[in-house]
Formats: sequence, C-alpha cells, structure tokens
Amino acid sequence: MSEDAATVAVRAPAKLNLHLGVGARRPDGYHELTTVFQAVSLYDELRLSPAGELTVTVCGEGAETVPSGRENLAGRAVSALAALAGCSPAVAVAIRKSIPVAGGMAGGSADAAAALLGCDALWGLGLQRPALDTLAAALGSDVPFALHGGTALATGRGERLTTVLGQGDYHWVFALAAGGLATPAVYAELDRLRAAGDSRPGGDPQAVLAALRLGDVPALGRALHNDLAEAAFSLRPQLRRVCEAGRELGAVGSVVCGSGPTVALLTRDASDAVKIAAALAGLDVCRTVRRAVGPVAGARITAAGGGGVPGRPARSKPG
Ligand code: C5P
Repeated sequence: MSEDAATVAVRAPAKLNLHLGVGARRPDGYHELTTVFQAVSLYDELRLSPAGELTVTVCGEGAETVPSGRENLAGRAVSALAALAGCSPAVAVAIRKSIPVAGGMAGGSADAAAALLGCDALWGLGLQRPALDTLAAALGSDVPFALHGGTALATGRGERLTTVLGQGDYHWVFALAAGGLATPAVYAELDRLRAAGDSRPGGDPQAVLAALRLGDVPALGRALHNDLAEAAFSLRPQLRRVCEAGRELGAVGSVVCGSGPTVALLTRDASDAVKIAAALAGLDVCRTVRRAVGPVAGARITAAGGGGVPGRPARSKPG
C-alpha cells in the first residue's frame, strides 16, 4: 500500500461560546461551567499516516507557537488511543492550522479530536462514540465538543454535552488578536476579579437557547454573554475597543470567544458579514479578520486510507 493510500485526512472545526457562565472553582482547579458551544466553519486539517514513530508537525498560521512532537495535544490523543487499543502510536501527524492559536476557539482541542477520529480510522478500531468521548474528555474540556460539533449545551468543566435544537445559519466575523491568551491565566484573572468584588456571574443561557430555537439573529446578538470577558478585557484592554468597533459597524452582537483574545461579531446575514469584515479589517483594532458560518459538524474524516492495526483484523463499521 502506498503512503497516500494509507493516509487518513480529518478536519475539525473551531468553536465559540454563545453563552459562557463560569461558576465556582472546584477542588480540582477547574471551574463549573454552563456554556452553549457552536462549531463554526474555520477548520484545522490533519493528515495521519503510518510511520516508524509518533511525530507531530504543524504548519499554517501561528504554527511556530504550537508545540510539535508528543507534547502537542494531538500527539497526546494518538498516545491515549494507542494505549487503549494496545497498539503502537507509530503515526506521523501533520497539522495544518487555520484556527487561531491560543485564540479561545479551541484549536488545540479540535486537533486532538481529529487525531482521535483519524487514528480510529487508520487502525480500523471502529470505536463507539462513548469510548471516544471518554478519551476526549480526559484530553481537555473542549475536546468532546470538537467531536460533537453543531450547537450544544455543556456543563461540568465543559465536557458534558446535550445537543441544542435550533434553526438557522449564523454569520460570524472573527477579529483575531496579535498574540494569544493562556486559558489558565484568564480563569485565574476571573478568580482575582471576583475575590475583589469586580466581577459577578452573569445569569443563565435561557435567552441564547430561546433565540436559537426561533432562529432569531438579533435576539441571539443581544443574548451573547461570556463571564470570562471581564478577565480577558482586564488582561487585554484593547478587546473592549474591538467589541465597540464591531457594533459601530453594524454587528448585532459581540462576544469574546472562550478565554479570548478572539472576538466574535454576529452579523445579520452573509452579505453583512462581508461588509463588516472588510470595514473591520480597515480599522487598526485587530491583527486580522476571518468570516465563518455556524453551526457546522464536528470532526470528520475527509479522506480515508487506513489499514488497521498490524496483526489485528479491522472492524468493518466505525462507531
Ligand atoms: O481542560 P483544559 O486543559 O482545556 O483546560 C485548560 C485550563 O483552563 C485548566 O487548566 C484550567 O486552568 C482552566 N479551566 C477551568 N475550568 C474549566 C475549563 C478550563 O478553570 N471548566
């Protein structure tokens, strides 16, 4: 079998949080969350091929700041799945980044989800979804959603998912910042602000869920909320200006993506998104601008080779 025939290609989407309610810090250091995730059409692409040993290489925007090799979350995903399957993690993983690095859009989690799905296909394991979800949750709070995609309500530390039934496509403009923010630093800043009485939890996701049920874009724009925004603004004051600029340009709402520093602007429709993206790119408030639509599916195989685990029959149906 040629190397190409054995290569599995997978893509996985970025996410934003339409509502992110952060509760108390738990004894394990994580915070109890109530969040509504939406997967959007910015994708990282992974190619996985049999190799002599596990390697992870990264190209694309911001690649130089992403760990390569086994320290990469996708490499850890390959190792975790190999341990479960009882096989060698000897896979070459090539990641092409489009999701902003350390941008609050779960790019690393997307890569881990794609690696799980890709190795499952490459090794012909046919794992069922619950097994993949358990592995995903152990790798990071956002990894299960990167598998799930669509729109989902999440609780726990973000790993317990319920599909949200909604209607409509949502047209987003993303303002990408120069340099990322480390998620633990943003949560720590929120803890500091709350201890000082400078930030309070901001309610429940009911308004977001109601807007999604109706496909009501302006109502969704008004309902967007992120408890981490104050902490992200405290660490990056410029982000307030990005949100203001978006609304001045006609966005129906703005919200910091996860722990930031990417800011998402909700627009009325596709043509509004084009206009707002172009106008925002002309202002000196962010590094660059992207457009995307949500909701989209979670991690998916786009080209399937895969020969199964050497010495083991491949299962016929992936789970
Ligand atoms: O789960 P993940 O590795 O993505 O989380 C990164 C960091 O973000 C955690 O180490 C923690 O500092 C913070 N976090 C949190 N509460 C959550 C999710 C993440 O405090 N629910």
